[in-house]
Amino acid sequence: MMENCKLSIRNITKQYKNAGARFAALDGVSVDIEAGEFLSVLGPSGCGKTTLLRIIAGLLSPDEGQILLDGKDITNAPPSERSLGIVFQNYALFENMTVFDNVSYAAKLKAKREKSATVADVKARTAELLGELGIADLAKKYPSALSGGQMQRVAIARTLILNPEIMLFDEPMSALDIATRIQLRAVIKNIQKKFGTTMIYITHDQEEAFAMSDRIMVMEKAKISQIDTPRAIVSYPANEYVKSFVVDNLRAKIESVSAVLEY
Ligand SMILES: Nc1ncnc2c1ncn2[C@@H]1O[C@H](COP(=O)(O)OP(=O)(O)OP(=O)(O)O)[C@@H](O)[C@H]1O
Ligand SMILES: [Mg+2]
Repeated sequence: MMENCKLSIRNITKQYKNAGARFAALDGVSVDIEAGEFLSVLGPSGCGKTTLLRIIAGLLSPDEGQILLDGKDITNAPPSERSLGIVFQNYALFENMTVFDNVSYAAKLKAKREKSATVADVKARTAELLGELGIADLAKKYPSALSGGQMQRVAIARTLILNPEIMLFDEPMSALDIATRIQLRAVIKNIQKKFGTTMIYITHDQEEAFAMSDRIMVMEKAKISQIDTPRAIVSYPANEYVKSFVVDNLRAKIESVSAVLEY
């Protein structure tokens, strides 16, 4: 166990019922995440990624195990007390509000509740964030007039404005085209660097995980197969599953286009 880690996930177990029978969606999952780290959770459909994220966020209780934030047990703390922000695959924007209001809404409520900032402060911060995410020109538009990539930027801005210490992403790009995905990768990495935000990023895309991560946590059904740097995973896959699901798939993707690019 690491000293002084930001988020410690300890021996998390979660069972669901399926047709009356119980099965483990997570079975003894443990990982320590450092402050400012970018950790991807990479695994096939149904391996338990979203279940883990919901437990970290406090939207779901584990059957066993603990979650520690800065060494403090938050296993049973409500989502609002976790300084976490979540970005989902479906953006869940408020359809009846402009982009500007979508981003500023929760921050205004928070500022009022905590008496921490004025409405003018929140507006200034909103404008600044829209600029940083390259969507300043969309401020007055409504979600129905946006592309998927634009909506996802709004969703990221809306989460960022609350200054979360940790950001959780659940396959935020799976509905977007490749060019937009590559652009947004850079946006997210810049945020991580600029704000030192700890990020946990769920994906089933090997290439995305390798392009963005400090470390990758590879999952097979309900369990962790390996947690390592991208380089270490390629050089020393922990078992046959990691080799075939991660390394071989990654190579196949690259080789399928590299022959063409050499001409
Ligand atoms: N509320 C629930 N009740 C019963 N079973 C569930 C529930 N939620 C998820 N499951 C099951 O638990 C397992 C893990 O689900 P989970 O959503 O965590 O997978 P995932 O890795 O996020 O998959 P995907 O990549 O498809 O999003 C799956 O077999 C799923 O069918
Ligand atoms: Mg999922």
